[in-house]
Amino acid sequence: MPTRPYVIDEMISAKTIAARVEALAKEIHDTFRDTDKLVVVGLLRGSFVFIADMVRELDLPVEVDFIEATSYGDSTESSREVRILKDLRGEIHGRDVLVVEDIVDTGYTLQHVVGLLRARAPKRLKTVALLDKPTRREVDIKADWTGFEIPDEFVVGYGIDYAQRNRNLPFIGAVRFLEP
Ligand code: IMP
Repeated sequence: MPTRPYVIDEMISAKTIAARVEALAKEIHDTFRDTDKLVVVGLLRGSFVFIADMVRELDLPVEVDFIEATSYGDSTESSREVRILKDLRGEIHGRDVLVVEDIVDTGYTLQHVVGLLRARAPKRLKTVALLDKPTRREVDIKADWTGFEIPDEFVVGYGIDYAQRNRNLPFIGAVRFLEP
């Protein structure tokens, strides 16, 4: 889909992200230190960089699985209707689960995925989101761990896209449109 011309203003540097991921991993490790195996579930596609860094900081036996949900299409506005495009490969019944999300915005995606996974009766289910835009929230949900709270800006980088672009930026940047 064609996009309007835009520039990207750096908001969170790669170094700052790395330090925060390390700190989050320590807290997550403390919570799950007695686990026999932690199933780390990445929400595709925006969390793929975050989950890759997160599992390498977690000194625990982990299994990695993915679920793909969509609410945005190629626009910058949530449609509020969450669809599951790809489900987990493995069973999570009786298992320890960590859901890894890139951004909690309106909250519909995380709410939907958590509801779906809780219905499968995991032993423990926790959530971590790299970014949170609290002023955009429309449903009452908050991740158990959050990397950074950010203002209501459309962001890209570190796995996060705008119309499938800019996922490969090492930092988080705000999209600034050049035309009204
Ligand atoms: P929610 O259902 O509104 O909370 O939206 C969550 C999903 O929307 C995230 O997992 C992202 O994929 C996407 N999203 C929300 N805000 C942004 C943004 O600023 N840039 C890119 N994607 C976003």
